[in-house]
Amino acid sequence: MNILILHGPNLNLLGEREPSVYGTMTLGQLNAKIMAHGKKRKISMRARQSNHEGGLIDILHAHRRWADGIVFNPGAYSHYSYALRDAVSSIAVPTIEVHLSDITQREAFRRVSVVAPACEGQISGKGVNSYLEAVDRLAGMKRKKR
Ligand code: DQA
Repeated sequence: MNILILHGPNLNLLGEREPSVYGTMTLGQLNAKIMAHGKKRKISMRARQSNHEGGLIDILHAHRRWADGIVFNPGAYSHYSYALRDAVSSIAVPTIEVHLSDITQREAFRRVSVVAPACEGQISGKGVNSYLEAVDRLAGMKRKKR
């Protein structure tokens, strides 16, 4: 099974970005934990990050035949990018939206995700465990025919 971990804008600055909200783990450290978790389950993992909406769309398209599942943190794009929502719908790869912080307990604009309806589910507010749970959920899904 192949799983793509995709991080959106500003997540490259994890560790120094608002540590009271997102913690002190860097993106490299976060990816290392997720990769180790997948490896234990014999899942082949790739991690990518982009600060650009079109860049994220290109990465989703490029992995549409490789990935059996996608763990996607679209960052602030979650709240307004219909293009990313369409990209997730277009590739038909089971995708779980994740957030480090609890988006239901922050500013009002974060409570809505326009990407989530195109996803199999959303996990938010569990830090690195949001990603690990998403990997487990995807691993439990039946492999789709490509
Ligand atoms: C985030 C939550 C978003 O609202 C925010 O814009 C981010 C990070 C999270 O992981 O908690 O960039 O996706």
